[in-house]
Parts: sequence; structure tokens; C-alpha cells
Amino acid sequence: MNTEDIERILERYYSMDYHYESGRVLGSMYTAVPDIVLKAFLKFYQSNLGNPGLYPGTVEMERSVIGFLLKLASGKESYYGHILSGGTEANITALWAARNMGYRRVLMTGDAHFSLLKAANILNMPVKYIEMKNGVMDINALEKNCREKDIVVATAGTTSLGYIDPIEKISEICADKNAYLHVDAAFGGFVIPFLRELGYLNTKFGFDVPAVRSITIDPHKMGLAPYPAGGLVARENIFKHISVPAPYLTSGESETLLGTRQSGSVAAAYVAILYFGWNGYKDMVNECMNNSEYLKKRAEEEGFETEPFVMNIVNLRVSNTEHVKNELFKLGWAVSTNPSYGTLRIVVMPHVKPEIIDSFLIDLKKIVRRL
Ligand SMILES: Cc1ncc(COP(=O)(O)O)c(C=O)c1O
Repeated sequence: MNTEDIERILERYYSMDYHYESGRVLGSMYTAVPDIVLKAFLKFYQSNLGNPGLYPGTVEMERSVIGFLLKLASGKESYYGHILSGGTEANITALWAARNMGYRRVLMTGDAHFSLLKAANILNMPVKYIEMKNGVMDINALEKNCREKDIVVATAGTTSLGYIDPIEKISEICADKNAYLHVDAAFGGFVIPFLRELGYLNTKFGFDVPAVRSITIDPHKMGLAPYPAGGLVARENIFKHISVPAPYLTSGESETLLGTRQSGSVAAAYVAILYFGWNGYKDMVNECMNNSEYLKKRAEEEGFETEPFVMNIVNLRVSNTEHVKNELFKLGWAVSTNPSYGTLRIVVMPHVKPEIIDSFLIDLKKIVRRL
């Protein structure tokens, strides 16, 4: 086929998909990335950190990105990490390493991300659900249930409400019981450090909490890197516990779950960090929080109840949530729901601006009035 015809076909499929530039994707932890970031992705599309000897430049960029993640997580430069395909792979890897280190059971709340259930399932480890109190892990319930050789997963920025489990108290219990503590900050890792600097909260979630051993932080969420760019950082070299020989590769071993790893996204994550820098991310978080406040205020003016929010994930109470969601999709709004809370869940990413919020609320009101 000639390229014009191919482009016409691509256009047809492109127009079928949602795009973040439209502003109408309200339920995803993603947004359109700057051109310079995309340029890096395309320039390095051949990079494969599964075979690092061929890509020493990309290896250096990965190390720099890990350095930034460690800064976000109050870690030391000498700590370990990899850019992986996403939060799912990072969580699976952390639990895989912990399992190989002799830990045997996973403790988490019902609001932990489903990737942890996948991890436990793949690793054939039992899961003990710990009760929640006000949307976060109940410390008394953890104290009662935690034993030696458990893996406790705390979430810093739950997918549903954006809440932070009480990590410092969880750490004390883990230290006391000799349990492994993994923090899933896939979303919150690029938010909490800035919320702290902006004066919103004073919560610790990283390696400045003594028992925290590994942390998931994803550049491809609030780090504004393109997929696939999840991150896993660790206080000790947990990767050596999952390493296998890979004689045909330059490294002679493989210490990540995937073999071939699309690493254009590592270059892109590196460029996103250069482009935004600490202060750029802070300004972005500030704007997202202002817009979250705006959404809450306007929604309440329109008669909707909202859940208290901690980071830029705002939940609106709506009856018949699934029906409302479907009607919103018909009007071109891609929203998600939290069935267990009976809410519409809006992730206030940088493209969710006040004018988008206003037109969304007009459509939402119309739908709810019709009910
Ligand atoms: C807290 C948390 N952990 C893990 C994940 C999984 O990340 P991914 O979809 O990049 O695999 C998500 C995704 O939304 C998440 O919110």
C-alpha cells in the first residue's frame, strides 16, 4: 500500500480512540507529554535494556531516572532500581524478590492495586486482607494479623481515593515483626514530595521510613513520561534475588521480569525530568491540586457530595454510578467509577482544567436530572 492510503487508515483508527489533548479523559493517570519528550522516545525506540551492553547511553539515562526517583523517595544515590513496564511489573517484581528472600504471605488492604493480587497469584502466595479505617489500612488490624515473614504492602496514593496508608506506623509494626514492607507509590511518588513542599501534608512514604525496603514509583503517571515507564527502587539489591543466567545477552544475566524491554520510554522519562525538573513537577502538582479544589467546589455548588481528597483524585457521590458512567461515555467523557464507594472517580491530571470541569459538570447534571 502507498503511504497516503496507510495514513488515511491510521487516521480512521486514531479518530476512534480517546486522546488526552481533548481534555475529556477524566479517569486515567496519564496525560499528553511534551514534544521534546516524545522526540526522545522515537530517537531511542531501538533501545532494549534487556540487553544493556548494546545501549550504554540508555543505561546511563536509566541510572539518572532512578536517581530522580530516589530523590522523590528520600533514598540514597547508592540504592538500587530499574525502569520497568509499569506499576504492575514493579509490584510483581518487588513481591517476587521478597518471596525469594523467604517472605511468604501478602498483607494489604482491599484498596491495594489489583496488580498485587496478580503478583500473589503468580507467586502462589496467600493474601490476607487487612481492614481499612477511613479509606486507609487500620493499624490495629495490621498489628493483630502481621507475623514474621509477611510482606506488607502499603499504598501511598490509592488508585481509588488517592489516600496514603499510615506508613510510619506500618513501618514500626513491620520492624517489630520482621516483615518486609513494600510501598506502592506508583501514582503518589510523583505527588507526595511536592504536596509536602507546598504545605498540604507532612507525610513520609519513602526510605526515610526505616522499614521501607522497596517502592514502586511510575514515571508514566505523574512523571509525564510515555508508557512503558514504571519504576521500582529498593534500599538493597533485591534484583539479585530474581536474577537468572542469560548467556546470549551482553549482561550474561537477566534481573527483570521482561526480557526485551522497550527503553525509548527510559530516554523519554529522562528528558521529562530534564524538562520539568523538581520545580516544574511541583508547579504541576500545585495546579492539579488547585483544579481538584475547583472541581470539588463546583461539584458541591451543583449539589454533588464529594469525598475528602488528599491528592489530585476527586470522587463525586452519584447514585447509579455505572449508568451515569455509560451516559457520560456516550457524550465523550471517559470517566471511571469506584463501585465500592459509589462514586465517580476523576483523576485531575494536568489536562483537566477549569473549563473542562465546567463543561463536564453541565453534562453530568443533565444526566443526573434525567434519572
Ligand atoms: C497505586 C497503583 N499501583 C499500581 C498500578 C499499576 O500500574 P500500571 O497500570 O502502570 O501497571 C496503578 C495503576 O493505576 C496504581 O494506581
